[in-house]
Order: sequence, then structure tokens, then C-alpha cells
Amino acid sequence: MKYAIGIDIGYGNTKLVTAANWSSFSSLVGNFEEGINIPDFGGRPLEVVDLGGEKYLIGETARKHSTRIYSSRDRGWIASKAYRALLKFALQKCNLKEGDTAAITTGLPAAYFRTDKELLAALIAEVAEEARITAKVSILPQPMGAFFAQFFDEKGHVLDERLASGRVGILDIGYYTTDLVTLDHLDIVDKQLGSIESGVSTALEAIKRDLYDAWQVNLDLHRTEEALRKGKVTVFGEERDITSIRNQRLKELAGEIESQARTIWGNAADLGRILLAGGGAALLSEHLSFYRHAKIVRDPAYAIANGFFRHAIRKCI
Ligand SMILES: Nc1ncnc2c1ncn2[C@@H]1O[C@H](COP(=O)(O)OP(=O)(O)OP(=O)(O)O)[C@@H](O)[C@H]1O
Ligand SMILES: [Mg+2]
Repeated sequence: MKYAIGIDIGYGNTKLVTAANWSSFSSLVGNFEEGINIPDFGGRPLEVVDLGGEKYLIGETARKHSTRIYSSRDRGWIASKAYRALLKFALQKCNLKEGDTAAITTGLPAAYFRTDKELLAALIAEVAEEARITAKVSILPQPMGAFFAQFFDEKGHVLDERLASGRVGILDIGYYTTDLVTLDHLDIVDKQLGSIESGVSTALEAIKRDLYDAWQVNLDLHRTEEALRKGKVTVFGEERDITSIRNQRLKELAGEIESQARTIWGNAADLGRILLAGGGAALLSEHLSFYRHAKIVRDPAYAIANGFFRHAIRKCI
């Protein structure tokens, strides 16, 4: 069988889109703890991957059970065991069988695209070979996924011809970074490919400090994100509303991203369209008003992986 697979491995979450389903898991890799292999693990399957005989826990399973989490932001992430584990786990979730052929499209942060794309292609080839599947691999800068999600429909046919002509700007607001790409008649504008060192975690760090200052409650970033989602936090058994803290910090983050984008795009008058994607675009939707022709794409958090899937489908036609 021939399959199309779109994988977007972010610093925060790994997103996977196939014809069968969309799924995501936290980009966390931790050590395997003996003794947790109990069959009735809260009814959820254990997220575990085997690299050369050594087991690793992934996602929420790692968050819950690992005593050691392998950091995902070290330099050389692509070459790390943690990255290989995330990639292998994502492929494992596709349930491919020996002998299958898969068109796999994935991406790299804009900042590492040029330096690491061969490395990533080699890594995917290796992981595919171990699973005895034939992989046709494409590697793109991550924001390109958002473009292909607009450009192709779910069958891989061109949906919006006009995107192929003129200039299109794409902003992918992620967990640690915001990636920016400009396309000119489908070509990447070299000077306008890069990463801004602000993302959702920038706001989370600030909110975490605010919560401590206000109520001496010390949450890690994961629990800060939960509080942000709920708009409240429980301190000594009492619920506190945090919407004003949240709005203030999200507004600041949107402003920071705006001023950085302006250093590259200026007033963006020469861009026919601006696409906003990534989970951060969903989170900041009320605060992103800086370019009047900018539009948040549909399902922004999944848009990158979804566009990669649509790109991969073209290879199966
Ligand atoms: N639908 C949503 N609504 C609100 N916030 C969201 C939504 N989806 C994701 N987010 C927030 O956006 C954050 C960033 O998500 P995303 O998956 O785009 O990051 P990432 O791709 O892992 O990071 P990076 O691109 O920096 O590697 C999430 O951690 C979450 O806080
Ligand atoms: Mg991302």
C-alpha cells in the first residue's frame, strides 16, 4: 500500500496528519521506568518507542512517569536521540506494514532548514529502513505547511491558483519560536526566511512570574498553560481569575511578534496575502491585528502538518 503522511515535529507538540486521522502528542521524550508497564494504565495505551533495544517514553506518558526528560531545545536537536524517538513514534502511530510505501513530508524550523535538511532526510531514511518501509521524503521549512494547506485540497489538487502568483507571507507562531517565510511565485525569498525567538512560551514564562508575584503559586509551564486555557488558577483551594493577566501577556506577545515581523516585512504592502498559522495563532487570535490583510488559516495548530499531508498526497497520485 501507498500512504501519504504529514509530520510536524514542533518544540512543543508533534502533529501528525494522514488520510485516517489527525493526532498530536507533546514533544517530550523521557527515560523508560521499569514497573510502569502495567496493562491497565488508566485505560490509555502507553506511549513508548524502542531505539536500538532501548525504550523511551513519549508525550504525556513521559511527563507522568519519566524521572528524566531529554530536553528538546539543545543545539543539534535533529541529531539527538530525542528527535529520533519522536519521529519513530510518529511513524509507529501510522501503523505501516513491512513493504509499504509512504510519501512523507515534514519540515524544519526556518532557522535550521538549510543546515539540517540533509541530516533529517538521512534520519528518516534510516528509521524507514528499520521498519522496512520505502519512504519518499520531502523536507520543507515548517511554515510552508500552512501554505500548502491553502494551496492544495485534501486530494492534493490545486485549490487556490492565485497563491501561486505574487508574494505570500507566512507566519508560524509556535511554542518557543515564530517562523517567517516569504514566497514569491512559489519560490522562497532567501533573505526573508527566519525565526523570531518569541512564541507561546514567552507569554507563559511571564504569566508564570505574574502568578507567583500575585499569589506565591509556583507552576511549571505546563500547568501555567492549563491555567491560561481555563482562565483561572486554584490557590489554597480558592479559584482566582487570571483573564486580565492572560490578556495583558498575550497582547504583549502579539506586539513583540508584530515588531519583529515589521523589521522583515515593513508594512507588508507588497505581500498579496499573509497567512498566520501555528498553535500560537489560535491563542493570539484576538490580539493579532497588525496587518489588515493577514488571515489566520483554518485549524492553525494542525495547518502545518495538514499542508505537509496534502503535499505528500501529490506524490501518491
Ligand atoms: N487551538 C488552540 N487554541 C489555543 N491555543 C492553542 C491551540 N493549539 C495550540 N495552542 C497553543 O499554542 C502552543 C504552540 O503550539 P504549536 O503546536 O504550534 O507549537 P510547536 O509547533 O510545538 O512549536 P514550534 O513551532 O516553536 O516548534 C501550544 O503549546 C498551545 O499553548
Ligand atoms: Mg510549529
